[in-house]
Amino acid sequence: MAESMKLPEGRGSLLIVEDGEALALAAAERFVAVTTAAVAARGTALVALSGGSTPKRMGSLLAQPAFAARVPWSATEVFWSDERWVPLASSESNAGEAMRVFLTAVPAPPERIHPVATDLASPAAGAVAYASEIRRVSGVNGATPVFDLLLLGMGDDGHTASLFPHTAALQEREKIVVANVVPQLGTERVTFTYPLIAAAREVLVLVGGAAKADTLARVLEGPPDPETLPSQQIRVDQGSLTWLVDRAATAALSLQTGQR
Ligand code: 6PG
Repeated sequence: MAESMKLPEGRGSLLIVEDGEALALAAAERFVAVTTAAVAARGTALVALSGGSTPKRMGSLLAQPAFAARVPWSATEVFWSDERWVPLASSESNAGEAMRVFLTAVPAPPERIHPVATDLASPAAGAVAYASEIRRVSGVNGATPVFDLLLLGMGDDGHTASLFPHTAALQEREKIVVANVVPQLGTERVTFTYPLIAAAREVLVLVGGAAKADTLARVLEGPPDPETLPSQQIRVDQGSLTWLVDRAATAALSLQTGQR
């Protein structure tokens, strides 16, 4: 049974499910519900997937015929909240993996799938092109585009998207997508920024497994230190923010939860 609770003001809510499988299932159900409602309301659904292992399990479920038939794929625009600077063919590519795991198995029109163009000259060029693509598809030019569903993960080090501890992208308040040098990984990534995340109608942070327990407790209950724990800075302006976690990930939390 899922348990839910409200987190302190501005931090969203926490939804706890039993295990990794239940987590993937709950995320897949949210994907169906949000895309369906968005298409009914506005004719199109704008979603951003994240990298990591949890969305892959969600994707495997979405690829099953019973699920695939419930998603309005023909009107769903798919982006990624971050990407590694590798070719789509690489197993490190978030978009490439999602395509291989499920997007090629569902009736999603190829023109509605929007990977970061990692064949451009540099991550900076890739970030500029990705921001333009988001603006073109959303039709929003001056203001911040609004994703209907924006998925995020949380790394063991507290990063989210490719907003890593003590990196420059944490300071970005204007651009919606930037390239981010990640010295701790010796690499550069392309990532959504906090302002783009904050504008979303629904942000879902997927956190599963015992290895995340200590970090999750520091992020949700520890003293504010978003430079060290970028996931603490996940906020939404008007939309909803849900931390969808499995029980193992909650092991170090002291929060009281209520069944539902
Ligand atoms: C990436 C991800 C990253 C991921 C977290 C959690 O490309 O590395 O987007 O931010 O979401 O590291 O990953 P897991 O779901 O595998 O724990």
